[in-house]
Parts: sequence; structure tokens; C-alpha cells
Amino acid sequence: MESLYGPYAPFLPKVAEDVETKILAIGEAERERTGHGVIEHVRTRIKAEESMREKCLRRGFEPSAYSALREIHDSVGIRVVTRFIDELFLIADRLRELPDTRIVSEKDYVRSAKPNGYRSYHMILEIKEPFTDILGRTPGGWIVEVQLRTIAMDTWASLEHELRYKQDVANERLIAQELKRVADELASCDVSMQTIRNLIHAS
Ligand code: GTP
Ligand code: MG
Repeated sequence: MESLYGPYAPFLPKVAEDVETKILAIGEAERERTGHGVIEHVRTRIKAEESMREKCLRRGFEPSAYSALREIHDSVGIRVVTRFIDELFLIADRLRELPDTRIVSEKDYVRSAKPNGYRSYHMILEIKEPFTDILGRTPGGWIVEVQLRTIAMDTWASLEHELRYKQDVANERLIAQELKRVADELASCDVSMQTIRNLIHAS
């Protein structure tokens, strides 16, 4: 069967790799400037066709390459994990300054956490790449979702994601309450770690 991404499927990993390289270069430039790294790790993924098909339908779009590449914005996902909160915002600043990159949208779930406690900074970017895109443009514009988080935010999100797929658990409300409490405690640790680091750097 033909890929949901049509003839564009082979380009998605190339787009992901290119954006990852650009983000790692931002980290390296920062290391040279300040003497310490700012990126803990970067992970990329191409959304599996089955979950993309399901997401198109859930959002009311026909499952087509056009929907998958233009209406839905996370066919290519990049997660950037930093150690400190200020590093996450620094990378967001640098991403806004990248050439050949358009900011489609940004969501600040760090300053405004989701009600469940989820925290991350989300950016949807459209990156210019040499390959022809689904609109027939060469160079093409390729949409990627970047999630910027600290290690603590990433820890919470990974565990919560895993728990969310366990349906029909007893004490659902208590569990949600406890998850929210842990998210807020981790956020408070992030602020403390940032404060400690600022003290060390000031001395
Ligand atoms: P989807 O949630 O992907 O349908 O898109 P959206 O338009 O609601 O965007 P949003 O920025 O809310 O979420 C995009 C992505 O962020 C999700 O696909 C997840 O990877 C991540 N995310 C958002 N909310 C949560 C959450 O409550 N828990 C976890 N673990 N991840 C989340
Ligand atoms: Mg969502």
C-alpha cells in the first residue's frame, strides 16, 4: 500500500536530520561562547502512519498526504531536552533567528502549564529544504514540531504519557491529582536548580 505521506515519505527523515543538525549546531555555538553545553539530548521521530491517519480523522481531515503534511503539524517531531529552564528559552530564541525558517506558531506551556501539569515550550516551524514540497514549491517548506523541555519536564511527560495509555485504572481522579502535584514539585525543583546555577555563575 502507498504511504500516507505519498512520495514525500523519504524526505521526512532528511528534514528531521537537518533540523537536528541545526539544533546541535546552536548547542555547539553556545558551548564555544560560554564554555558549557546547553543541550542534554535531541530526539527526532517521524509520526507513524497509523497514528497520523487516526489524528487526521480525529481532527476532521481526510487522511491524505496533504492533511498529514499541511493540516497536521507534527509529521516530523523534534524534542530538545535541556538541563536548565533558561537554556530552553535560549534555544527557542536561536530557533527564531534561524535563516530559511518561518515560525508558524508557539505555545508556552512552561509559563502557562496545562491543567494536568504538563510543561514544555512548543514551536511549529516551517523550514526551507531543497526538496519540492506538497505545494509544488522548490525549495520546499517543511513543517516540524519542536518541543523544548528540561530533563525534569521530560521525565514527567514520559511517565504521564505511559500512564495515559493504561485505561480503566481505579482512582483516576486521585492519580490525576498526584501527577499534577509531582509536576508542580518538579517545576519548583527546576526553579531551584536554576537559582543555584545562577549563584554559582555569579561567584
Ligand atoms: P496534539 O495534542 O498532538 O493532538 O496537538 P495539539 O494541537 O493539542 O498540540 P499540543 O501543543 O497540545 O500538543 C502537542 C504534543 O505535545 C503532543 O503530541 C504531545 O507530544 C505533547 N503533549 C501535549 N500535552 C501533553 C500532556 O498532557 N502530556 C504529555 N505527556 N505530552 C503532551
Ligand atoms: Mg494536544
